[in-house]
Amino acid sequence: MDLTIGAVILAAGEGKRLKLNAPKPLAPCLDKKLVDFPIRELKKFFSQNHIDGKITAVIGHQRELVRSYIEKNYPDIGYAIQAEQKGTADALRSYFDSTETKVITKEFQYTLVICADTPVVSASELTEMLELLKKENLDGVAASFIEKNPKGYGRIVRGKKGFHIIEEKDATDEIRKITEVNSGLYILKTSYVLEHLKQIDSNNKSGEFYLTDVFKDGLNVKAHCFPNGEVFLGVNTLHQLEEADHALRSRKKKELKENGVRFIDSSHCYIDSDVQIGEGSVIYPNTFISGQTTIGKNVVIEMGAQISNSIIEDDATVLAYSILENAHLRSKASAGPFARLRPGADIGAGAKIGNFVEIKKSILSQGVKVSHLSYIGDAYIGENTNIGCGFITCNFDGVSKHITKIGKNSFIGSDSQTIAPVDIGDDCFVASSSTITKNMPNGSFAISRGQQTTKDGMAKKFLKKKE
Ligand code: UD1
Ligand code: MG
Repeated sequence: MDLTIGAVILAAGEGKRLKLNAPKPLAPCLDKKLVDFPIRELKKFFSQNHIDGKITAVIGHQRELVRSYIEKNYPDIGYAIQAEQKGTADALRSYFDSTETKVITKEFQYTLVICADTPVVSASELTEMLELLKKENLDGVAASFIEKNPKGYGRIVRGKKGFHIIEEKDATDEIRKITEVNSGLYILKTSYVLEHLKQIDSNNKSGEFYLTDVFKDGLNVKAHCFPNGEVFLGVNTLHQLEEADHALRSRKKKELKENGVRFIDSSHCYIDSDVQIGEGSVIYPNTFISGQTTIGKNVVIEMGAQISNSIIEDDATVLAYSILENAHLRSKASAGPFARLRPGADIGAGAKIGNFVEIKKSILSQGVKVSHLSYIGDAYIGENTNIGCGFITCNFDGVSKHITKIGKNSFIGSDSQTIAPVDIGDDCFVASSSTITKNMPNGSFAISRGQQTTKDGMAKKFLKKKE
């Protein structure tokens, strides 16, 4: 660890243009919030470069909500409160003056500034900036890029020696034509930024303190122009939020393809950033895969599947239109079409869950078959047991949930129910249409259905005659 960096996430702004009922840093982005992305990339950047770094969020608008979200998910992050949103330089001053940052911010060698609303920026851009800074021993680097439609961005005005930044509102028509724009991402020597921050005033059209004014012609600073400008996309509108989602998902799918995952048409697959998928797996269109989902090798995920926070082991298959949530499908097992595996469904190796089957908080051992139209909740089912069509574990008495146990190698006839709590042993046979209320010992047979009475010729009494 030879380098110390204090990273500041500017997250005090209101984000009015997003028109969401949430502060901007908590706007939804993939299956996360906007602010999660800079935090995660900063952490990655620190660890990849062996940097002793600390992150601080500058919060302001709806700060209690933003703070409680960050505190819950990232307890090591510090805070600085910007009471009034008087501009980005004022936000950075709040950072240096804060007593809640958990660290002495002025002592870091470098200060990195990133906005909460640029979720596509990755650790690799941060590393590139740091390398340039170190190589040329600069006092500061601002990331810039070329934007054909630069409206709204600060323009990079390059002179004979160095550069400065002019905000859209303050720009002349000539300057507005410049297409090299400021991304809002900077790494600066802390001593440099402290010195120049003092001098910033609010003599501009917005009456704000602009952080961009720390860059002045003739100083030892550089604007580093990235060719892949789309990574600096700032989310100010719902349209840009959709663009950011799209960019993040495209990056994820590209990475998966490089690792040997085959897509039938990846433009219609929605895969969030933490999902892992093994080599040889095939993903059909119209699939949504999110959360902490891990999918093994040679798995097939058919169309319309929605999978969140689940584990799917090697060679398993999720057939069309199935929903898995906090579920575990072990190797070579299959579920669907139209299966629903709810939280706690643990499906054993080689087991088969068929169409219109719902499973909740149940452990099904290897080789179990539940092929059609069943509900299984709060149950344990032993190896190779076969559950017929239309079986129900009646697990709820209106107040509490109860457990159903079925042993191995048993056969449960179609259209049966078990009234929990109940325990059926190994090698049992339940006849079709039975309602099982009492425990069954190993090897037993049970039948509980009304006796059939057949009366010759009597049907006509009940059949309506056509007039
Ligand atoms: C800023 C830059 C502009 C750049 C653009 C890139 C300035 C003066 N301008 O403009 O050159 O091209 O980003 O997207 O810096 N914030 C606070 N407190 C404040 C004001 C803002 O924390 O008082 C935060 C916002 O929450 C946001 C970030 O700072 O995360 C940037 O603020 P924003 O108002 O979006 O600046 P831009 O007008 O986009
Ligand atoms: Mg912005």
